[in-house]
Amino acid sequence: MLFREQIVPERLPRHIAVIMDGNGRWATSRGLERQAGHIEGAKTVRRITEAAVEAGIRYLTLYAFSIENWNRPQTEVQALMGLLVKSLREETALLMEQGIRLRVIGDTESLAPDVRRELEDTLRQTEANTRMDMVLALSYGARWEITQAARRMAEAVHAGQLAAGQITEETFGQYLCTAGIPDPDLLIRTSGEIRISNFLLWQIAYSELYFTPVLWPDFTKEMFFEAIVNYQQRQRRFGKTASQVAGEGEEAAR
Ligand code: FPP
Repeated sequence: MLFREQIVPERLPRHIAVIMDGNGRWATSRGLERQAGHIEGAKTVRRITEAAVEAGIRYLTLYAFSIENWNRPQTEVQALMGLLVKSLREETALLMEQGIRLRVIGDTESLAPDVRRELEDTLRQTEANTRMDMVLALSYGARWEITQAARRMAEAVHAGQLAAGQITEETFGQYLCTAGIPDPDLLIRTSGEIRISNFLLWQIAYSELYFTPVLWPDFTKEMFFEAIVNYQQRQRRFGKTASQVAGEGEEAAR
């Protein structure tokens, strides 16, 4: 039976975050320039976005460009930014058609003016869409995000707008780029690397992690559905014991 058909609609992860890795290796293993892998990776972005809508996922976050990625060769950075602008231009119609709202997290001020303009256009055009939020992490780093939150909170305390005693996990969350977005239930990383790479460190405290050896350009809809089915077979305990969680399940069923 297809994984798509095994998904239990009542137990969908509300938010899936993805570390899209392996574009470079996909290209070099074929004797191609790394950029060719990113072009193929952009096709996977389209495919997996469609798959997420088909499955009924409410939030899909994609790690498109990390703060550390600025250190790659200029030609590759330029190619990635060019691909982003091209994709935004070409795919905004699809986002509208599918009811997808684009959101961005990261240090967007470090992006070039033409990239920012294109992004702002798409953000504005799609802001009333409610079927799914696609959150692009661009020039994003979790340590940067946490540090800027701490700095802004310190400034608010200094200005008398916030009392130090009011700093709780909830208020802290409001100073992160993801304010108002629920934490990911499931985090997927492709390409066989078993690490988090400075992605959503605060938000994934209780996320289920799923690693696959498949390179991002080869990642199919069925593989995405397989990750969802795998997630649905797990028991999320949030620090409680297995029997406590089982008891809650019985109570909810009553
Ligand atoms: C990781 O592969 C991928 C990236 C650094 C960028 C992700 C970009 C895309 C999927 C394409 C464009 C995105 C959008 C949103 C249109 P890697 O280069 O680190 O691969 P490697 O580890 O094999 O070298």
